Amino acid sequence: MSQFDYIKEIARFGLENDQESLMSKLNELIEHSKKTKKVNFAIQLQSILKESLAKQKTSGLTKFGSDAYHQRIEDKELSDIILEKLTSDYSLDNLVAEDKIIEQLHFFLKEHTSIKLLQQFDLPVSNKVLLHGPSGCGKTLASYVIAGELKKLMYVVNLGAIVSSKLGDTSKNLAKLFRRAASEECIIFIDEFDSIGKLRDYNQDHGEMKRVVNTILQLFDYLPQKSIVIAATNQKDMIDEALLRRFDLNIAFPLPDTDKIKDLINLTLKSGQFQFDKPRSVNAIVKKAVGLSYYSIQKTLITAIKRSIFEQDRENNKPIATLINTKLWSDLVDDEKIALNK
Ligand SMILES: Nc1ncnc2c1ncn2[C@@H]1O[C@H](COP(=O)(O)OP(=O)(O)OP(=O)(O)O)[C@@H](O)[C@H]1O
Ligand SMILES: [Mg+2]
Repeated sequence: MSQFDYIKEIARFGLENDQESLMSKLNELIEHSKKTKKVNFAIQLQSILKESLAKQKTSGLTKFGSDAYHQRIEDKELSDIILEKLTSDYSLDNLVAEDKIIEQLHFFLKEHTSIKLLQQFDLPVSNKVLLHGPSGCGKTLASYVIAGELKKLMYVVNLGAIVSSKLGDTSKNLAKLFRRAASEECIIFIDEFDSIGKLRDYNQDHGEMKRVVNTILQLFDYLPQKSIVIAATNQKDMIDEALLRRFDLNIAFPLPDTDKIKDLINLTLKSGQFQFDKPRSVNAIVKKAVGLSYYSIQKTLITAIKRSIFEQDRENNKPIATLINTKLWSDLVDDEKIALNK
């Protein structure tokens, strides 16, 4: 980092009122100045710092405790907004999608496994992804795939929850979260990203929304290349234009067509343990299922498998047949369509 980089960071933390980060950056700048032989400057900075610390202490503020203490406070605050912190074993094989989508994901992953190569040529690494499309079509699943393929830790946050429960703190909380992502080189998965749009309703003059949008724009711009942000929404049109433009990758996950429904069936039955009792009827059910999400279709199939097992007469201790009652599955698909008005 150059002296200018330190100054920019210090200005940012100062304006964000982020005392802890400001202090640690100042300390870094002091060290940097000593190393680069600007000893006088380093001493002056040090005395400003000491003076300020002394003032804080005498005014009864105990803000500047040990690092561990601050880490604990931050952990507690972040735990309110982080739904889950996870690692994943999912790979691209777990996701059914159009070839184009798989290819986009493949190249995105490639950029992260080839960061050094890209950096050699001063090329930027894509690290901001927007996943959009109807419910149950693989947005969350795709985020698990990215985390699993890159073996990165992923923080899952629900923007809806942050926005509604801590309206005024949204910007501050997001800033904290991104700082964590930067230091741990992890993935932040922001679900319900469209909730930002809802801020319009909370505040007549759009002040809060503008503030949050601006914070996110800044956080995006400062995101280190090794950290990744994945945002998901099923209401892309609620998202601010300026924000949409910031994503390096914008991937749609549509409802499955007949080919993809067949791929989903094959994936769900891939262990080879279960087969349909009337394989010839399957095509008609697949056609009927168009309009339902991957999630709904898989759910009805798994229910059919379970009920096919329960249906069997267990009295005489015969081994359990692993045939799926195709008619039962067909009925379940009908029920699902009625339930969802499809
Ligand atoms: N494209 C897909 N390929 C394979 N399985 C899928 C796919 N989409 C959904 N599924 C199945 O449905 C489950 C739910 O999907 P997922 O949570 O990814 O949906 P989503 O798009 O995030 O929906 P929501 O908008 O409601 O959050 C997955 O865990 C998986 O079992
Ligand atoms: Mg989801």
